[in-house]
Amino acid sequence: MGRLVVVSNRVPVPDKKGTAPAGGLAVALQSALEARGGLWLGWSGQSCGEDAIGPLKTLKDGNIDYALTDLTEKDVEEYYHGFANRVLWPICHYRLDLAEYGRREMAGYFRVNRFFASRLLPLIEEDDLIWIHDYHLIPLAAELRRQGVKNRIGFFLHIPWPAPDVFLTMPVHEELLTSLTAYDVIGFQTVHDRENFADCLARQGLSRRLGESRFSVGERTFTAKPYPIGIETEAFAALARRAGETTLHRRMLQSLDGKSLIIGVDRLDYSKGLTQRIDAFETFLTRHPDNQRQVTLLQITPKSRSEVPEYEAMQRAVAEQAGRVNGALGTVDWVPIRYVNRSLRRPALAGLYRMAKLALVTPLRDGMNLVAKEYIAAQNEEDPGVLLLSRFAGAAAELKEAVLVNPYDVEGTADAMARSLAMPVEERRERWKGLMATLRKNDVFVWCDGFLTDLAGATLPRIRAAS
Ligand code: F6P
Repeated sequence: MGRLVVVSNRVPVPDKKGTAPAGGLAVALQSALEARGGLWLGWSGQSCGEDAIGPLKTLKDGNIDYALTDLTEKDVEEYYHGFANRVLWPICHYRLDLAEYGRREMAGYFRVNRFFASRLLPLIEEDDLIWIHDYHLIPLAAELRRQGVKNRIGFFLHIPWPAPDVFLTMPVHEELLTSLTAYDVIGFQTVHDRENFADCLARQGLSRRLGESRFSVGERTFTAKPYPIGIETEAFAALARRAGETTLHRRMLQSLDGKSLIIGVDRLDYSKGLTQRIDAFETFLTRHPDNQRQVTLLQITPKSRSEVPEYEAMQRAVAEQAGRVNGALGTVDWVPIRYVNRSLRRPALAGLYRMAKLALVTPLRDGMNLVAKEYIAAQNEEDPGVLLLSRFAGAAAELKEAVLVNPYDVEGTADAMARSLAMPVEERRERWKGLMATLRKNDVFVWCDGFLTDLAGATLPRIRAAS
């Protein structure tokens, strides 16, 4: 198998201590590249004036070479804040009402993809397998093909692919769909996402379906298949076991003073269902008042994409809502919701997951949701906690033994919280065993191997400039 070249918008470059920032996509890919050796190219996170774009910034860490490019302020505004996060993100999460179309942003998105292609081109070697990630970079393979690249190129979408009636509302849907056909393998989180994609192709009459996962467009054939992403199951479980010895763990236990911990960990994003979750928690406390003063919800919610107006508005809304619930139900010595707007390091998170009797993973729509998987991996097998999981997270397709809820149904979710907290230990163990078996069977290495095996085996693309 040739060298692996990964391209993604964000690159989790290790800091001086060699620690990479946490996050699902980051953790998954770093393990893969470290094991195989390769190159990871992406945005440096820095923006500059039009004339100030310098050469790539490079760095080597173990088996991984990193290459980072700056973008101009205009690029970041149009490609990242504009089209990726104000059109593709809301559309893929079924929020047509939040999509803000602008010709300038659309043009910026395609321009920056061309720019990424020009930065990658001189670094590509003949046998490289190129693996492009996520919605920021959908047209990248088409750009590379236009510039003569013949390597095998794969694409993995970490977020949901919506139903055709939603996707086709986007003015540039045709260009996006066509550019995807320049890949050899297109990976989705779930069968449902792949079928939505296939329905979009069929609706547009763009391709022929040759088999469950094989499609053809003109002379090209490609694979479109679900590869549900996993975590480093055993490593995360070990991290959680060790966390009991830390000062943070002791301080947290002390501050709980015998109360049960409920945990939620999400980027501050409207797709995560935070307002519905807080409503459900408040309803749970009022409908099941025995739980008042007996439980604490720790909601860890790092701010995200604050330059995008919808996110800025949400920051205020969620903070006010948490404050209102605390004001209405809290007492002098009990705060129902501890609301924290910062990210924690992975060992600290693993320990908190292990301590929590219940995890609330209730997005309105989510590609996979690795918090759900990490929570399960972190549990103590003798006395495991319960995972309350939205039906609309990709993880629900795999994690059948979780307590599945509809996050739009506030009262139903509130009652599920009460049932979960009262669940007998035998049932918790039984559910956890099933969940853990799934996580062991389909960890991040299986995900990565599955995708790369298909990509390496893909028929070499016939050379045809993608239109
Ligand atoms: O998992 C989806 C994703 O958009 C990743 O591509 C991204 O790195 C992460 O969420 C965080 O978002 P952002 O890079 O916009 O801060």
